Amino acid sequence: MLFIRILFLTGPASNGMKEQIAIIDFGSQYTHLIARRIRQLGVLAKIYPPTVAFRDLRFAKGIILSGGPQSVFDKTAVKYNPHLFALAVPILGFCYGHQLIAQYFGGLVRAEKTKEYGSASLRKLGSAKLFLGLNRQERIWMSHGDQVVKLPPGFSAIGRTADCPVAAMADEKRNIYGLQFHPEVTHTAHGLTILRNFVFSVCYCQANWSMSQYYRQLIKEVKKTVGSRRVFLLVSGGVDSSVAFAVLEKTLGKKKVFGLHIDNGFMRLNESKKVAQALGRAGFSDLVVVDASDRFLLAVKGVTDPEVKREIIGRTFLKVKDDIMKQQNFKKPDWVLGQGTIYPDTIETGGTKHADKIKTHHNRVKEILKLMELGGLVEPLAELYKDEVRELGRLLGLPASLINRQPFPGPGLAIRALCGNGQNSVKSAAAINKKLRRLAGSKFKTMVLPLQSVGVQGDNRTYRHPALIAGPISWSKIHNLSVRITNEVLAVNRVVYLLHPQKFDAKDLKIKSAYLTSERLNLLRQVDDIVMTEIKRAGLTDEIWQFPVILAPLTLGRGETIILRPVQSKEAMTVNFYPLPQSILKRLVKKITAVPGVDLVLYDVTNKPPATIEWE
Ligand code: XMP
Repeated sequence: MLFIRILFLTGPASNGMKEQIAIIDFGSQYTHLIARRIRQLGVLAKIYPPTVAFRDLRFAKGIILSGGPQSVFDKTAVKYNPHLFALAVPILGFCYGHQLIAQYFGGLVRAEKTKEYGSASLRKLGSAKLFLGLNRQERIWMSHGDQVVKLPPGFSAIGRTADCPVAAMADEKRNIYGLQFHPEVTHTAHGLTILRNFVFSVCYCQANWSMSQYYRQLIKEVKKTVGSRRVFLLVSGGVDSSVAFAVLEKTLGKKKVFGLHIDNGFMRLNESKKVAQALGRAGFSDLVVVDASDRFLLAVKGVTDPEVKREIIGRTFLKVKDDIMKQQNFKKPDWVLGQGTIYPDTIETGGTKHADKIKTHHNRVKEILKLMELGGLVEPLAELYKDEVRELGRLLGLPASLINRQPFPGPGLAIRALCGNGQNSVKSAAAINKKLRRLAGSKFKTMVLPLQSVGVQGDNRTYRHPALIAGPISWSKIHNLSVRITNEVLAVNRVVYLLHPQKFDAKDLKIKSAYLTSERLNLLRQVDDIVMTEIKRAGLTDEIWQFPVILAPLTLGRGETIILRPVQSKEAMTVNFYPLPQSILKRLVKKITAVPGVDLVLYDVTNKPPATIEWE
């Protein structure tokens, strides 16, 4: 293949804040996270579409090709500018980007039977510059169905896993690298080392970016967007909206920002009261709290589909906001709507051109997108991840009690109370159970459950069944089995472990019809409060990133099922399930099963990917 690499006559610029790394976005959930990691190294990276013009890349000292939800050999694969490969700067591809490099330079990519989602172990081969400082064996994070099965000429494998012989490849002469895994996610143990090696030792970038510099730029942008208007801010009381409140007040002055907290009836026990008190203590004075719980409950009556729930809830927030504006005599042209949206909300809602929609976040419903087009929206944190929002909050002097709160989704308990019409939606249960039995061996009992939940696999949304496993409580064995099941059984994207009862007859387990009612929400609220209190008492609130408690309409005849979902994360894009100490677990189960209406207690033992944090 004729291969000429071109150097721009203007040369790569490193003056001021020009980006030094160009990221080409093929629609991965993690594209923006790559930019965030590179910022963490003090270097600005900018994201471009695959059809980017050659000229636009003139400042780049290196190019990164992101992952994406498609297959490189699909007829519908994303169109890209092949001249990308002719630039005389180093290239690094992740997942789809890695496969694209392999295909472009004459290798072969194929869909293999065993997929890899979540944790995997990388064996380093050779001594490539990109892997300087890495151990021979490294924990990495995967999310792929296809893989490189033949290397292109000039490349060699620099890492492999048990199921993927070309997990990393390099042509060090031409400075082209490909990684099947995702070094940008924090769950790849030394991902940042790999990125550091690329940015500084391969591309020779210089560190010149910081959060305080970003904040100075943000002030200018907020002032420009808002102009002479005032901001009507929707405040849930979580980390994001509190930091957004602070940024807006500090930038525009207290008088120009009005905060509205809507109690949607899906909050935790006494949550709205606590939010109002905490924000008052932190010095936010212009805050109104309204109780709209009846209105929300009526709006979701009889709804079972998670996405429909999410859209209705998002829309109802806006209707309540409009009513309050009318009541308070606020004229629309004088006001701009403010939200504490952060980047993962946008990407999960399919907010970039080639990304799949994983779930509709309440602050990204159609009506909001329209408002955005019309310039009626200000979202100061929309480019940031949760850990960056916390960093900004600390910079602004917000109290740790606000900044370190565990995240809680806008639609609240509504997306944690699973609903359904009682129909069993599992197709070919016998065949799935046979595969599960083969993987589980003799120590664990398994069965597919007639529920569904949302997952993110190879950058795509999935809505599949959980598998239940029962057996001895050894977290490492349970983890390994969970990974094998979700990698090998297509119909399953989540695994739950049986905590209570210790045994039951599979024939007795039934799915019943269930909707969003105040009785079910109260039951969930009560159990959620038990869990939150125990976790606080055990001093685990900081160690556990988030601890959703889920109510599912699975019954042994009397009540329903509670599912515990404690996770650890840095920014919610990748997650591992948190293995609770057994003493705490025992106490929790005892307290939960004492609540009337609880038949089973399960423990979610799935990472993200393949499952998302929330079930819906
Ligand atoms: P998933 O479940 O997709 O969630 O792994 C990632 C993070 O986002 C939170 N989440 C939401 N937050 N509005 C929000 O403000 C929403 O509609 C929403 N849905 C999920 C979730 O709790 C987790 O922290």
